[in-house]
Amino acid sequence: MTQEQWTAVDRYFADLLVPPDPALDAALQHSAEAGLPLIHVSPIQGKLLMLLAMIQRARTILEIGTLGGYSTIWLAKALPRDGHLITLEADPKHAEVARTNLARAGLNGRAEVRIGKALDTLPQLASEGRGPFDLIFIDADKPNNPHYFAWALKLAHRGSLIIVDNVVRDGGVLDTSGADPGVEGVRRLNDLIAADPRVSATAIQTVGSKGYDGFALIVVTGELTP
Ligand code: SAH
Ligand code: DHB
Ligand code: MG
Repeated sequence: MTQEQWTAVDRYFADLLVPPDPALDAALQHSAEAGLPLIHVSPIQGKLLMLLAMIQRARTILEIGTLGGYSTIWLAKALPRDGHLITLEADPKHAEVARTNLARAGLNGRAEVRIGKALDTLPQLASEGRGPFDLIFIDADKPNNPHYFAWALKLAHRGSLIIVDNVVRDGGVLDTSGADPGVEGVRRLNDLIAADPRVSATAIQTVGSKGYDGFALIVVTGELTP
């Protein structure tokens, strides 16, 4: 199998199952025009996020790593009218593009972009008493994944779903050399998940327009005591 085939199959399923959506399409176009990196989830992955949030009946969602808000819009589409999403973004330019994209999608009542390094804004959320969140999507700087997982557990409840993007990285996850800080972040995250009796988790390898990567899916099955 080649990247060309993976991309063609992605397009086949997207054409069949992901009808054009003016807000999502505009978000991608505006993000590209603003020069943001093209590292958002693919359309069929975005729809997977929306379906998982629907299955979860999520009313509160936390996202770490907004970029232009493409995954944010997919997740927010699953929320009921009185639901709420908070997304954390370190880069003010990315956050600005995301706010515009969310406003165009009619979602700025339900989705809030917080600017700052997530390791600064996560403690702020906790001290404001925000959460618990029904679904948490971790997709920011990979070396901090172990910290983001610890914060996710602090801001979760029994039954919360935590999703982590980019846990395979072309198979780089098997590299034990420690040479790549992103891979190290993913491996340390995986060790934390494996050792935590309060969660039940799996990983799904993916191929598609974004190459070879994967998601970790983690359900909080045990009691979280403060
Ligand atoms: N979830 C998005 C993609 C996110 S890309 C989507 O699929 O559409 C990762 C984002 O994390 C980038 O916008 C980057 O600026 C942001 N980021 C990097 N380090 C961060 C940090 N320390 N805190 C918050 N956001 C960070
Ligand atoms: C990168 C980050 C992502 O979140 C992603 O899905 C793909 C690539 C990156 O930083 O290269
Ligand atoms: Mg990602």
